[in-house]
Amino acid sequence: VSDSKPRGLITSSAAAAPPSFAFAFDIDGVLLHVSEPLPGAASALRLLQRHRIPFILLTNGGGQHESDRVADLSAKLGVALDADAFVQSHTPFRDLVPALGGKTVLVTGSDAARSRAIAERYGFQDVVIPADLLAAQPGVWPFDPLLRSVYASSARPLRRPVWRDGGEHPVEDCLKVEAVFVFNDPRDWALDTQLIVDLLLSHRGYLGTYSRRNGRADLENRGWQADGQPELFFSNADLFWATGYHLPRFGQGAFQAAVRGVWDAVTGGGGLHPLRRRVVGKPYEETYRFAEDVLRRHRAQLLREAGGGAGRTAGGAATPAALSTVYMIGDNPESDIAGANGFRSADGTDWCSVLVRTGVWHPDRGEMKHQPRVIVDNVEEAVRWALKREGWEGDL
Ligand code: G3P
Ligand code: MG
Repeated sequence: VSDSKPRGLITSSAAAAPPSFAFAFDIDGVLLHVSEPLPGAASALRLLQRHRIPFILLTNGGGQHESDRVADLSAKLGVALDADAFVQSHTPFRDLVPALGGKTVLVTGSDAARSRAIAERYGFQDVVIPADLLAAQPGVWPFDPLLRSVYASSARPLRRPVWRDGGEHPVEDCLKVEAVFVFNDPRDWALDTQLIVDLLLSHRGYLGTYSRRNGRADLENRGWQADGQPELFFSNADLFWATGYHLPRFGQGAFQAAVRGVWDAVTGGGGLHPLRRRVVGKPYEETYRFAEDVLRRHRAQLLREAGGGAGRTAGGAATPAALSTVYMIGDNPESDIAGANGFRSADGTDWCSVLVRTGVWHPDRGEMKHQPRVIVDNVEEAVRWALKREGWEGDL
């Protein structure tokens, strides 16, 4: 092993074997700032690629299909990135296709029509968006139709009618929404909040109905969300994120807080019947588990490509050595750092949190609730710190 190479990485027999550590990079505030690469980002990734050190990108961003987003990032950073080593906020929704793929789901996001296209590429077969509902039943939204032309151009006819009091269709023949997905940061909070709350108050997800169980004192949770209403999924809890403005801006977490606030007001306030919902994305365990699986498959793939490995299965497939550490490089203590600190890997992999100063965190915004293992100036320094910790003796 030469002095300038990482120990344990470059040996003749295991030349291709990935090391026992890997990286997970956040994007906004770590690799990019307002779509521009941050200093050192591209060279740090290239260095890892050169030495076959596996990494994934793990972002709470979304709104584009993974393959499109990765193509975009590769062009911006000037580094060829792999769509199989990429996890964004809504990527774990793919795992819900076996359960919900054949059912009607409502999807919204920054551009709901685009979110629908992503959901369809994941395998969801009956995806409706707010525009469809507004077109089918303009009365759902009584206000000045400023955006109606935008909605009109993206609306698709519904497969079933929306239920109407006194209408010709029995409820069982009407539109029934079985799940609601917030793919990324909605733009029209008011319409989306109205429709989400409508569905959570409905009888079994039939839009236009109102559950008779709502508010009943004799029922569990006073009957709220207790009548087969659709499950509500958010993909990103970030209250703030780093943008071009000098102060952090609201993220999807702010929209979620708004929906929760309206829900509290509707159900009697005081947070007595908190909104039941599922949230993926960082810092949630589900996303870290998903990311670790992606990383595991990616390491195996690297090994296959190189035609070597630390071990072989009965069928002859190479298996990489155990993954002992993942360095999570992030800029947001509430998201990247909290998630890495709190995640308990089933394989005993240690997720080591590294905070950079190039993003949303600033010491003036109060004490951190989630302490990273180390704070460094930028992503390049983060990689250098981690490689040193792993016995790296070369330089970036
Ligand atoms: O909407 C994007 C944002 O909330 C954060 O993205 O890459 O910092 O996880 P990222
Ligand atoms: Mg970030």
